[in-house]
Amino acid sequence: HIYQKGVKHLCENGVTQVPQKYILPPQERPVSLVVNDCIHLPVIDFTQLQGMDRSRVLKVLSNACREFGFFQVVNHGIADEVIGKMIDVSKRFFELPFEERQRYMSNNLSQPVRYGTSFNQNNDGVFCWRDFLKLSCHPMQDFAPLWPSSPVDLREAVGEYSMKTRHLYERVMDAILESLGLTDEKVISKDGNQLVMVNCYPACPQPELTLGLPPHSDYGLLTLLLQDQVEGLQIQHNDRWVTVKPIPNSFVVNIGDQFEIFSNGRYKSVVHRVAVNSMRSRLSVASLHSVNENVTPSPKLIDYLNPKRYEDTNYADFLHYLTSSEFKCKRFLESRR
Ligand code: SIN
Ligand code: FE2
Repeated sequence: HIYQKGVKHLCENGVTQVPQKYILPPQERPVSLVVNDCIHLPVIDFTQLQGMDRSRVLKVLSNACREFGFFQVVNHGIADEVIGKMIDVSKRFFELPFEERQRYMSNNLSQPVRYGTSFNQNNDGVFCWRDFLKLSCHPMQDFAPLWPSSPVDLREAVGEYSMKTRHLYERVMDAILESLGLTDEKVISKDGNQLVMVNCYPACPQPELTLGLPPHSDYGLLTLLLQDQVEGLQIQHNDRWVTVKPIPNSFVVNIGDQFEIFSNGRYKSVVHRVAVNSMRSRLSVASLHSVNENVTPSPKLIDYLNPKRYEDTNYADFLHYLTSSEFKCKRFLESRR
């Protein structure tokens, strides 16, 4: 069906109204981005984190992870040029003729390189206004040959970008573990999976009827998100949806389900979604970090006041959940308590 070919394809065929397939029931629709409340997430200055001020910055980090499950990182040391190239090449990928993009389409969620649409196009009742390119990145020598060969500079840009974000991820994870008092902890392997997910949200003729991504939490340990200057990311905070104001060239970092489990619930994997707009198409690049092994609450974070709060879990459980009829875009974690 035409919906399986993605939103970009739909727009290229000149839709002027949101087709029925994308229309949410009234209670799940977003209010317009123009009137939705904005939030400034706590900002972590990475240079300060690595310097004399580390203990103070770790407190800010800890509060951010408890209260929002999200923070932004500035002065992270990844050159503007690396970021600019990643965004630019991603935009050009989505501008390629449909036949070129279609070569990477697959129904198989486990494909390491996959072009697709919606959230989970095999299972979504209502589709969402998003196309994506998923790129497995680690170990790079295994996956780089599978990345699209067009645009010609895509592999180079993704190679550079994924290496730099992986390095940043490791430093941020060190800080998060330290903020929990887990300095000599080797329980969470940093040598896990890395997926670079490039999201394209075309301008939408009726943005108040649909979403770019439905409410969800991220499955892995940590996500590092780069967004262009177009607003769209919304997080759930005090039972309201608030829009995250983009800061140019910064990363939005959020705690995933695996880390919530590992931290025995100290740090929360917070539900978020994406709203679209009628004026501009939006692009984001998420670097998703996870591990294959079973994740279990750290013994150091279990005591008589904090009993073990979660069952162990692994990727197979998550995939099973994603493809099951139980899946309603609510938190996977609810099934692991
Ligand atoms: C995501 O939640 O995975 C992507 C969020 C965004 O595009 O801002
Ligand atoms: Fe997400």
